[in-house]
Amino acid sequence: MSIIILGIESSCDDTSAAVVKDRVVLSNVIANQDIHKAYGGVVPELASRAHQQNIIPVVAQALSIAKVQKSDINGIAFARGPGLLGSLLVGTSFAKGFALSYNIPLIEVNHLQAHILTHFIKENSGYNNHPRFPFLCLLASGGHTQLVIVSDYLKMEMIGQTIDDAAGEAFDKCGKIIGLPYPGGPLIDKFAKQGNKNAFSFTKPKISDLNFSFSGLKTAFLYFIRDNIKKNTNFIEQNKYDICASVQCTIIDILIDKLIKAAEKTRIKEIAVAGGVSANSHLRDALLSEAKKRNWNIFIPALEYTTDNAAMIAITGYFKYLKKEFTGQDVTPVAKLMIE
Ligand code: KG4
Ligand code: ZN
Repeated sequence: MSIIILGIESSCDDTSAAVVKDRVVLSNVIANQDIHKAYGGVVPELASRAHQQNIIPVVAQALSIAKVQKSDINGIAFARGPGLLGSLLVGTSFAKGFALSYNIPLIEVNHLQAHILTHFIKENSGYNNHPRFPFLCLLASGGHTQLVIVSDYLKMEMIGQTIDDAAGEAFDKCGKIIGLPYPGGPLIDKFAKQGNKNAFSFTKPKISDLNFSFSGLKTAFLYFIRDNIKKNTNFIEQNKYDICASVQCTIIDILIDKLIKAAEKTRIKEIAVAGGVSANSHLRDALLSEAKKRNWNIFIPALEYTTDNAAMIAITGYFKYLKKEFTGQDVTPVAKLMIE
C-alpha cells in the first residue's frame, strides 16, 4: 500500500506544504514572505501573521498540484522546531487540527533532521542515488552550521557546530553591511560570479576542534568596509563584485576546511551537504573538486530542497510513519531543538 504524507513547514519566514507519496514528491509549494526585505531581517511578529494568512492557500495548492484529496492522506508531518516560536505555532496548530479532523497520525519533525533527509527524496519513481549509511553531512543554513554523522534515517550525531553565528547568518550580515536586502546570501553568490575572490583577504578563525565561528569575520568585514569608505565613499559600488567574491570565498573556505577535518577524523568518504547555504555555487564547486581529490562520494541536494521547504518535512514524516513514531495532541513547538 502506498503511503501519502502531507508535510508542513513554518519554522522561519517560508510557509510551505508538500505531498510525498512513498518518497516521491508530488508537490512542494513555498510562499516566501517578502515583507521582511524592508527590515533587513526576519521580523518574528510579521512572520507569524504571514504564516497565518498563507497556510490554508498553500496547503490547498499543494493538494491540488498533487491531485490528492484530503481523505487520501495517511499522516500529517510538521516542523516542531527549531525556529521562531510564533511561526512554529501556526504550522503546529494547523497540523493538529488536520490530524484531528481526518483522524490520521500526527508526526512531529525536527527541522534540522529534515534538511539532512532531503537526500532521500526521490525525484521520480525510478532509481535515484542516495547516500549510504553512515555518511557525514555539513548542514549550513541561516540558523545553524553543524557537522553530523548520519547512521540511519532517524539516527544522527552532531560532531561539530558553530559557537556563534551560522554560515547563512554571516552571508546575510555581510550583505546587510554592504547594503544588500535580506537575505544577502543569494545576492552575494550572484555578484561573486563577476568578482575576483583573491581581491581582498579576511582572517579565518582558529578553532581547534570541529566547531565553527563566523562572528569574528563579520566584525572584521564591518571594519574593512568602514575603513575603506573613509578613504573612498564609492568603495562599495566600485568594488561590489570583488567584495562579494572575497567574503564568500572566506566563508566557504571555513566550511570546507572543517568538513575535510571531520571526514579525515571519522574516515567517512560518503559526504553530503544540506541547508540554505548548500545552494551556494562556490560551495557546490568546491565540494566537487574536493570530492575528486579525496575520493569522496558527494551528495548535493537539488536547489529547490536546499532552503526551507515542506518536502523535507514530509519525507522525514514518511520515515517516522514507517516506524510508527507518532505524536500526541498535547505537543507544543520548541524554539531550540537539537539534532539528537
Ligand atoms: O535553510 P534555510 O532556508 O533556513 C534556515 O533553516 O535557516 O537557509 C537560509 C539561509 C539564509 O541565510 C540565506 O542567505 C542562505 O541560506 N542562502 C545562501 C544561498 N541561498 C540561500 N547563502 C549563500 N549562497 C546562496 N546561494
Ligand atoms: Zn532551515
